[in-house]
Amino acid sequence: MTTAVANPRTGGSGGSTAVAARARQVLKAYGSGETRVVALDEVDVDIARGAFTAIMGPSGSGKSTLMHCLAGLDSVTSGQVWIGETEITALKEKKLTRLRRDKIGFIFQAFNLLPTLNAL
Ligand SMILES: Nc1ncnc2c1ncn2[C@@H]1O[C@H](COP(=O)(O)OP(=O)(O)OP(=O)(O)O)[C@@H](O)[C@H]1O
Ligand SMILES: [Mg+2]
Repeated sequence: MTTAVANPRTGGSGGSTAVAARARQVLKAYGSGETRVVALDEVDVDIARGAFTAIMGPSGSGKSTLMHCLAGLDSVTSGQVWIGETEITALKEKKLTRLRRDKIGFIFQAFNLLPTLNAL
């Protein structure tokens, strides 16, 4: 998978105001044993603030998994994710929920709309 938007000024650990989201050594595995799938294999990426960033790669390469992990919608198997200054991989569910509510907008690949409800 190709993912790279790096700001050389903001290397190192922790958050930075120039980086909207950051992943370090993020590994995400689904399942276990013979059916284990490693969707993200120690991914490092910085998503710069205020930039339009595209994540490209073939189907099944882990784009959606990376987005879900960067947005705190899914947990990582190991590694760390920051949203701004906050390490979300260290947050308890309640704080993570609050951060998602206040800081993250997300359009899902499979819309996840409830057909019985309207926008109101
Ligand atoms: N909930 C899940 N349970 C098991 N395996 C999963 C799950 N979600 C994703 N995978 C697997 O993880 C890998 C990465 O999937 P992902 O959906 O992140 O890829 P993608 O790059 O978004 O693909 P596409 O371009 O088709 O949307 C694939 O091998 C996929 O089968
Ligand atoms: Mg996808």
